[in-house]
Amino acid sequence: MNMIETMHLTKEYSDFAAVSDINLHIRKGTVYGFLGPNGAGKSTTMKMFLGLTRPSSGSFTIDGMSHPGDRMKILREVGSFIEAPAFYGNLTGEENLDIIRKILGLPKSSVSDALELTGLTPYRKRLAKKYSLGMKQRLGLAG
Ligand SMILES: Nc1ncnc2c1ncn2[C@@H]1O[C@H](COP(=O)(O)OP(=O)(O)OP(=O)(O)O)[C@@H](O)[C@H]1O
Ligand SMILES: [Mg+2]
Repeated sequence: MNMIETMHLTKEYSDFAAVSDINLHIRKGTVYGFLGPNGAGKSTTMKMFLGLTRPSSGSFTIDGMSHPGDRMKILREVGSFIEAPAFYGNLTGEENLDIIRKILGLPKSSVSDALELTGLTPYRKRLAKKYSLGMKQRLGLAG
């Protein structure tokens, strides 16, 4: 079964095609490297998956759910960050995750689980703005 499928997905800005007629078939349980030159349309494609920009034509499904009808259901199931994750710099890594935890309605233990999984337990009390680049990426994954 495919986790993500796109059918002739296209995004045009006035007369310029940022994404042109792409047909992806991404299988469930796989890690997919989505590569291309700068400006190829990778970020624009992912923004469409998250409902941050509207396709000009074509469509896509995520885990069998289709956009835009199932947008809220899709977002509840998807973890994402595009390019760089956004944090509250003046809160610690742990405090940032606790905010996400509350929004998602998860148990308290999910914060320490996510810190452990991403190797951030020793840095959980450090302010996010003082994290190194790699630590910030890890905090994004933990979220
Ligand atoms: N809001 C916008 N308005 C007009 N053109 C845009 C807009 N956003 C992106 N583009 C253009 O669409 C094309 C695809 O951009 P996109 O950011 O998707 O590329 P990318 O594959 O993610 O590139 P990179 O590897 O540099 O991250 C580029 O030519 C870009 O300038
Ligand atoms: Mg990009």
